Amino acid sequence: PEAITVQELAKRMGERGADLVKALFKMGTPVTITETIDQDTAELLITEFGHRINRVSESDVDIQAETDVDAEDTLKVRPPVVTIMGHVDHGKTSLLDAIRGASVVSGEAGGITQHMGAYQVSLPDKSKVTFLDTPGHEAFTEMRARGANVTDIVVLVVAADDGLKPQTIEAINHTKAAGVPMIVAINKIDKPDAKPQKVREELLQHEIIVEDMGGDVQDVEVSALKKTNLDKLLEAITLQAEILELKANPDRAAEGAVVEAKLDKGRGPLATVLIQRGTLRVGDVIVVGAASGKVRAMIDDHGRQVKEAGPSFPVEVLGLGAVPSAGDQLTVVENEARAREVAAYRQGVLDKKRTTSAPVSLENMFADRA
Ligand code: GTP
Ligand code: MG
Repeated sequence: PEAITVQELAKRMGERGADLVKALFKMGTPVTITETIDQDTAELLITEFGHRINRVSESDVDIQAETDVDAEDTLKVRPPVVTIMGHVDHGKTSLLDAIRGASVVSGEAGGITQHMGAYQVSLPDKSKVTFLDTPGHEAFTEMRARGANVTDIVVLVVAADDGLKPQTIEAINHTKAAGVPMIVAINKIDKPDAKPQKVREELLQHEIIVEDMGGDVQDVEVSALKKTNLDKLLEAITLQAEILELKANPDRAAEGAVVEAKLDKGRGPLATVLIQRGTLRVGDVIVVGAASGKVRAMIDDHGRQVKEAGPSFPVEVLGLGAVPSAGDQLTVVENEARAREVAAYRQGVLDKKRTTSAPVSLENMFADRA
């Protein structure tokens, strides 16, 4: 396989060399900017930075990440993607229900979230926010890690009567690892034993300094039950989104990330995809991870069929030949032959990765940091 210097790869990706070196270090590959890395490592980095790999066959080794950066004048403002995280039962789904005016909690088995929900909310000023709900139960570490990685902003929900708990701390670590800004929602302030100030103090121990304590992390006291201060929370999100200047090119072939996927008895493989750039349309030929197909239908978070989905839009995609994995990247390609080729190639890479290298997890990233 070909090798490439970190510097050259950074140039092609349109990223800073120092950021690549940092990411490589976290992946357990300490190199300097002038050193070379192998193709597999380069590929991992490209994916890690959210770029697309255009390499299609084992012989076609050109990394075309460079051509894949959208020109500044093609970019349009897109809604922020906000992931709700926190310890089990601290009120994440209730908070989202209150914001959406819906009721998901009541339909959940045992009141425990076991999958990732994706919703879009329209604000009074007509702007939109995309929310991802994650489970707080300890068994769902991977889903929280994934949530932190596809998101622009994390809202950390902490119950004021319970304080910081193991999965709160885990969520803080995922958020830090993903380099994503955080807003703290101190929930359940309606409870008589609510101690919001104690939550702020506990956060200090994890280097989260909220505005109330003189830091720059926004914190909002809320009650999902009484619907208190939901407007303040949405304002905090809007403010943070403005600072981030989130933009994407809607006028190009779509790319997105799979939030979750499953096999539906009647409808076949279903993938909930968060569109990251471009616009996905019914009839598009797609590759999702190692699965391929043609978009037969798309369904939004209200269960309505939609013909197209632009940046930051979460949508359920029907028409894949197989069930992809959560975290897989969706790419639109020109025809079905090409789709099969890319899918087969990706399958090969997957098989190779599985047998030759240890997976890069957030856990061993932290171990490297210490
Ligand atoms: P997981 O998804 O399983 O991690 O839980 P969750 O964080 O989504 O919590 P959920 O929204 O399911 O709420 C857990 C319990 O807390 C439910 O019984 C809610 O009614 C209750 N709850 C949520 N928000 C509030 C609040 O603001 N005040 C009070 N008093 N109770 C709340
Ligand atoms: Mg929940």
